[in-house]
Amino acid sequence: MSELNDIALKVIGNGKGILAADESTGTMTKRLDSVNVESSSKNRLIFRETLFSSESMKNCIGGVILYDETIKQSGSSGKKIPLLISDSNAVPGIKVDTGAKVLAGSSDEKITEGLDGLRERLKEYYKLGARFTKWRAVYVISKEYPSKLSIISNAHALARYAALAQESGMVPIVEPEVLMDGSHTAEDCYQKTSEVIKRCFEELILNKVDLKGIILKPNMILPGSKCEQKISSEDIAKFTVKCLKDSVPSEVPGIAFLSGGQTEIEATENLNSINKINNTNFVMTYSYGRALQQSALKFWSKNIEDTKGTQATFNHRANMCSLASQGKWSKDIEKQNS
Ligand code: 13P
Repeated sequence: MSELNDIALKVIGNGKGILAADESTGTMTKRLDSVNVESSSKNRLIFRETLFSSESMKNCIGGVILYDETIKQSGSSGKKIPLLISDSNAVPGIKVDTGAKVLAGSSDEKITEGLDGLRERLKEYYKLGARFTKWRAVYVISKEYPSKLSIISNAHALARYAALAQESGMVPIVEPEVLMDGSHTAEDCYQKTSEVIKRCFEELILNKVDLKGIILKPNMILPGSKCEQKISSEDIAKFTVKCLKDSVPSEVPGIAFLSGGQTEIEATENLNSINKINNTNFVMTYSYGRALQQSALKFWSKNIEDTKGTQATFNHRANMCSLASQGKWSKDIEKQNS
């Protein structure tokens, strides 16, 4: 099992983090529509291959989460995508849930599906080169939500998934995302996130998951996007570190945050503040989708032939996130390098 711990640390250690490029075709289509690019299989591949062949892959990206379509594709040189990623010394990973569906019994909430046939799919992904996996559960916050039903059933599914991923020799990323949508305060987010994470670990332990061989991918503790509360990055960091210190068992090697709708700068600044006060043994880094890709996607959509320019935009963001994962980022460095 120490092999799983080695993989986890290779993915998130040494000032590196994760590039979450596992948008489903539906989500990727929304992203491409927003910049007026046709969402064809070819265009999705060109953009992703451009990122995966960037210079910052070597020093800033320890792992890339892929979607089923991409892990089976080859790049322009004929090289398989997982090989292109491992050639930069990053680890290929794969999203294995099949999406969040309406939860029977609580129709405003979601349950993540994908356990049927999972053992077989994991074997196939291992053969394709994946060494870590991802499963995302989502929770909404309101007065009555997340319900007990949503907390218990999503934790159960996450734990059964994690046990199967480890059985196949891959590190599971356990992602319980408490969404930013809504008018709740940071205190509400703190309380609900603690409850969600604690239940996940009860189920992981019950399912005999080796906690040294997982990566937790939580949300930061933030006020809801419609909440008027003003909160400093330092306070976000204090809430976030305290919440994780109190709810995550110390065997877990690391935590890789999702960006969840924060801007690129917010996600970088908050991660930096977290690492400035991180007094735990957990590595705290990034597993960003939008906060690593947004500017690069915008640039690329206007300069589709300009691979180098797109890569320079991505490299900048990845370098800034890497500095933030070590508590070494600042607004000045951001400006000087942009
Ligand atoms: P964002 O960073 O865009 O929230 O995406 C991370 C992710 O992997 C969501 O599952």
